[in-house]
Amino acid sequence: MGSLLFFALLLVGCGPGALSYQLFKQEWSMLILTHHWPQTFCYMEHCETDVDYWSLHGLWPNKGFTCNSTWHFNASLIEDLMPLMRKWWPDLLNPTDSAATGFWKHEWMKHGTCAAQAETMNSEHKYFSKALELYSRLNLDGTLKSHNIVPSETYYSLDEIERAINSSYHVKPKIQCVQPATGEQMQILGQLEICFDSEFNLVDCHRSGGSISLPSQPNGSTGYRVCDPAIKIYYPPIKKRHTKHHMGGFFKAGL
Ligand SMILES: *[C@@H]1O[C@H](CO)[C@@H](O)[C@H](O)[C@H]1NC(C)=O
Ligand SMILES: *[C@@H]1O[C@H](CO)[C@@H](O)[C@H](O)[C@H]1NC(C)=O
Ligand SMILES: *[C@@H]1O[C@H](CO)[C@@H](O)[C@H](O)[C@H]1NC(C)=O
Ligand SMILES: *[C@@H]1O[C@H](CO)[C@@H](O)[C@H](O)[C@H]1NC(C)=O
Repeated sequence: MGSLLFFALLLVGCGPGALSYQLFKQEWSMLILTHHWPQTFCYMEHCETDVDYWSLHGLWPNKGFTCNSTWHFNASLIEDLMPLMRKWWPDLLNPTDSAATGFWKHEWMKHGTCAAQAETMNSEHKYFSKALELYSRLNLDGTLKSHNIVPSETYYSLDEIERAINSSYHVKPKIQCVQPATGEQMQILGQLEICFDSEFNLVDCHRSGGSISLPSQPNGSTGYRVCDPAIKIYYPPIKKRHTKHHMGGFFKAGL
């Protein structure tokens, strides 16, 4: 009894984070595969993009950031993955710089070094391969299209989007939106998170500990919030590169 009390005091004293790290090699229990809608990302970041599919943002353990700051990113270790990375995990802030690897470096340092606590992802190559594999296995973009959830000037309800995802994967996603700067009574679809357990089985994202909101890219303004079920959702169509007008044309119809 005495030692149990001591242990309990120790827990309180050290804080659960420090102690659990000592006791368990792997702190996290869930992986969040985050997809972003490039149009919305670029609306927030003032970039331009013609990426017309849900691209990969990251594969994030639900606990831990920058778990090993000495494990530096080395792009040459994932040279063979580059064609896939550029296509499905593009750095939307640097679309024309094919040598830019800063986005992936950021994802590796902040999240990959934590994912790497699991043997299945304990190298840079394994981590990025796994993210690409999960992304391709889900085919979220195709799933939404097959349920007629497509970019449109009309609006969707959160329920419609959730149901489409549920009917394909049978789990709860986390759906994030951005508030328009203009204070319109709508929200803009921004990120879709699908969650996996450490064995890469699909799980509900809203399980305990599964809800984190992270800053996006190195300097990302983290404008994403869980979408409000009471407000209609705008899923912005692709703004072609040649229509240069800043954000003027972005919310053209329906307002
Ligand atoms: C951190 O990374 C370095 C460099 O790869 C490695 O030698 C070290 O074992 C890692 N530490 C932990 C705790 O994983
Ligand atoms: C990056 O990895 C390559 C291939 O293994 C290796 O030759 C190179 O020395 C590494 N660079 C750094 C800075 O560690
Ligand atoms: C998926 O939808 C079904 C039917 O509407 C519902 O019963 C179930 O709770 C939903 N599952 C999740 C994980 O949202
Ligand atoms: C990031 O934002 C900070 C603060 O707004 C700014 O000082 C810095 O120059 C930005 N860095 C980049 C790379 O844009």
